[in-house]
Amino acid sequence: MTKIAVLIGSLREASVNKKLAKTLESLAPNGTVFSYADLNLPLYNQELEADFPSSVQNLKDLIETADGVLIISPEYNRSFSGVLKNAIDWASRPWGNNSFKGKPAGIIGVSPGQTGTAQAQAHLRNVMQSLDTNLLTHPELYISTGRVFDDNGQVIESYIPHLRAYIDALVSHSTKNKTI
Ligand SMILES: Cc1cc2nc3c(=O)[nH]c(=O)nc-3n(C[C@H](O)[C@H](O)[C@H](O)COP(=O)(O)O)c2cc1C
Repeated sequence: MTKIAVLIGSLREASVNKKLAKTLESLAPNGTVFSYADLNLPLYNQELEADFPSSVQNLKDLIETADGVLIISPEYNRSFSGVLKNAIDWASRPWGNNSFKGKPAGIIGVSPGQTGTAQAQAHLRNVMQSLDTNLLTHPELYISTGRVFDDNGQVIESYIPHLRAYIDALVSHSTKNKTI
């Protein structure tokens, strides 16, 4: 079994990034289990570190017990979402106990803009590299909403091979570079 912790940078029920996660889950190789993180966390405040909120501890445990991490974010103002940054900041703490260290991870996302989260992903890569995450570098997918989901919200058939190649690569990267 390969366990993938999934962090989605949108809290919206109707989120297209959640839909992307579910689509990748349905295309993942047999034996892959997606575990979805709840990123509805308190805003980071160093004073709270003395008594870690249980929701944050749950996030850290989810990441640390996973073989790999899939990070999915919309693009907000040419970067990734604040919801996601807050979660990453929490999971990187306390000092010396960064849950992402050495962890295999992939970055992906979907937004309506023509560049399909390219800038959000670039910012996110920068952050995750600083946390010593073992990032999947290829393939990259920059997904504009209309290229992957039709007007009824159904995944567009011709895009499925790209998604399958992506999740295959992440699962393979995660099993080859296990830290647990
Ligand atoms: C504050 C804010 C800023 C946004 N900035 C961008 C942007 O820079 N580029 C882009 O393509 N879409 C941008 N959008 C559109 C979102 O990416 C889009 O609504 C997306 O569907 C949100 O993801 P979700 O459906 O997973 O919630 C922005 C939306 C919001 C709310």
